[in-house]
Amino acid sequence: MAELYPVSEEWARRARVDSAGYDRLYGRSIADPGSFWLEQAKRLDWIKRPEIAGDWSFDEEDFHIRWFGDGKLNVAANCIDRHLTKRGNETAIIWEPDEPSEEARRYTYRELHAEVCRFANVLKAQGVAKGDRVTIYLPMIPEAAFALLACARIGAVHSVVFGGFSPEALSGRITDCDSKVVITADEGRRGGKRVPLKANVDAAAAHAPAMETVIVVKATGGDVTMQAGRDVWYHEAAAQVPAECPPEPMGAEDPLFILYTSGSTGKPKGVLHTSGGYLLWASLTHELVFDYRPGQVYWCAADIGWVTGHSYIVYGPLANGATTVMFEGVPTWPDASRIWQVVDRHQVEILYTAPTALRALMREGDQYVTATSRTSLKLLGTVGEPINPEAWRWYHDVVGGGRCPIVDTWWQTETGGHLITPLPGATALKPGSATLPFPGVDPQIVDAEGQVLHGAAEGNLVIARSWPGQMRSVWGDHERFFQTYFTTYRGKYFTGDGCRRDEDGYYWITGRVDDVINVSGHRMGTAEVESALVLHPKVAEAAVVGMPHDVKGQGIYAYVTLNAGVEPSDDLRNALRDWVRREIGPIATPDALQFAPGLPKTRSGKIMRRILRKIAEGDVSNLGDISTLADPGVVQHLVDTREGRG
Ligand code: WTA
Repeated sequence: MAELYPVSEEWARRARVDSAGYDRLYGRSIADPGSFWLEQAKRLDWIKRPEIAGDWSFDEEDFHIRWFGDGKLNVAANCIDRHLTKRGNETAIIWEPDEPSEEARRYTYRELHAEVCRFANVLKAQGVAKGDRVTIYLPMIPEAAFALLACARIGAVHSVVFGGFSPEALSGRITDCDSKVVITADEGRRGGKRVPLKANVDAAAAHAPAMETVIVVKATGGDVTMQAGRDVWYHEAAAQVPAECPPEPMGAEDPLFILYTSGSTGKPKGVLHTSGGYLLWASLTHELVFDYRPGQVYWCAADIGWVTGHSYIVYGPLANGATTVMFEGVPTWPDASRIWQVVDRHQVEILYTAPTALRALMREGDQYVTATSRTSLKLLGTVGEPINPEAWRWYHDVVGGGRCPIVDTWWQTETGGHLITPLPGATALKPGSATLPFPGVDPQIVDAEGQVLHGAAEGNLVIARSWPGQMRSVWGDHERFFQTYFTTYRGKYFTGDGCRRDEDGYYWITGRVDDVINVSGHRMGTAEVESALVLHPKVAEAAVVGMPHDVKGQGIYAYVTLNAGVEPSDDLRNALRDWVRREIGPIATPDALQFAPGLPKTRSGKIMRRILRKIAEGDVSNLGDISTLADPGVVQHLVDTREGRG
């Protein structure tokens, strides 16, 4: 029996949703989704209120997904303008800089309004119009939030590229969605180091012919070269435009943003989210899962480059009129107490972070935590990967002093927001379980043949009906959207995750079942790392798998076959790791790289990844049936020359 942490009496009494409330909400959402969602939609400010909720089919003949299709709204107006009368002078954003000795900056909703309008006018002055794509490659500075909202205000579609991605990765993403405008900064700062963002954009330009204009925010004052006719300083352009910009009326199904994410095959795909359903999902989940109350300081310690930053730093909290913290730095700099110091400094009540950060901090020792007060904390959250019960208990007992429930939220870039998660006043917790579905979410566990398994069971996780926050397409490739998610199990959305449901109906995510690995909570397609490796002139072939890693959750293990005549060496190993880092970005750097004269393949030439995974895990006693291999001898060689954990 797993440990159970019941809901405290106080939480049950004062939370927005208690256990009976959850049963009621969930029951209605499934029994009568039409009226349930039209009622929930009232939480948004509509220019034209919708009369239709979900209109969708996951079947091939009639495949479509629409929510609130007859409604009109503006997302930025929902996140800013509608709060002005009641909360205009309250803090919308607290920005905590990388350098702890620097003052934090605060923006009220009124100031946010002016900043976003100005940014929107700068975009308009550069010719950006409704429907145009804008690539945002910024560090975690307030302008990143302004830029997202400015796009939303004028109906431009933003595509944020994480600041840790390389020029190559950036140019691919600019080109795929054909952005003519890129917003960047001179440099970013993280953990006392500088990241040359503008120089990366310059390097990307050669492979991004679509890019016509680069808007550059002065963040550090570092040296950059400005190209006449292409590059524009944001502060100069902003000085010439008014701080008033009317929000563009948008259809609920008009695109809001594209966010590239890794899949099991091919290039990263541009996940497309639209306006009404996405915003409703981000705001409703933010309010119920975090039990958010006006006036509370809420901190999601993610980066805006990932979906967590989109939904839970910007859109969800601001739609709810919250005070949201944006943090420029990293948890371990200047030392492992930084997060807890920021919590104390801003009296953070709700903290949302990733298991990988917790594991990294946990191994530094409790003294970094216990030296701080943390009495402001009321609720803790995690996201990104399964949390191991040891880290869960540390978070609960040491960080939260045993007082704070933990919401372990399972979701994906594709889902827009939380799908399986506790509600703090309603759900008894089990460390390591994301617990129960959010209202409107209909999860099923299926076996390899697609047979639905009932009761306690383990298999693959699918979602049997649409929800408002669901992605609507893969940018530029609607067929790929259908093929990727709706053909493995007909008529259902396939998550790519394995999952177990226990005797209490609780869901335990067991990790990806496809060729996606989860490194420090970041998705990486093994195919992407393989393509980067084989681009190297000395590499003939590469196969990449995940391996267990104490801090990152999963690390990257690469098997590399060199071209004939090339000798393996430690120098070459380092050179190849650097190569991948430059091609994709530091998060893709292989943790271990083994030179492999041959890879285990079937007679038809298919690489047997199952075997490579086992060798990478160090689980070589039971490699299963290798008799179907073209050359079973290569397996023993790989086992004998296995890399220690990098
Ligand atoms: C994993 C991040 C277990 C999962 C929001 C999913 C999780 C992938 C959890 C999506 C969790 C996310 N427990 N696994 N609470 N949250 N995952 O698109 O494998 O970057 O499919 O979205 O992360 O990663 P993505």
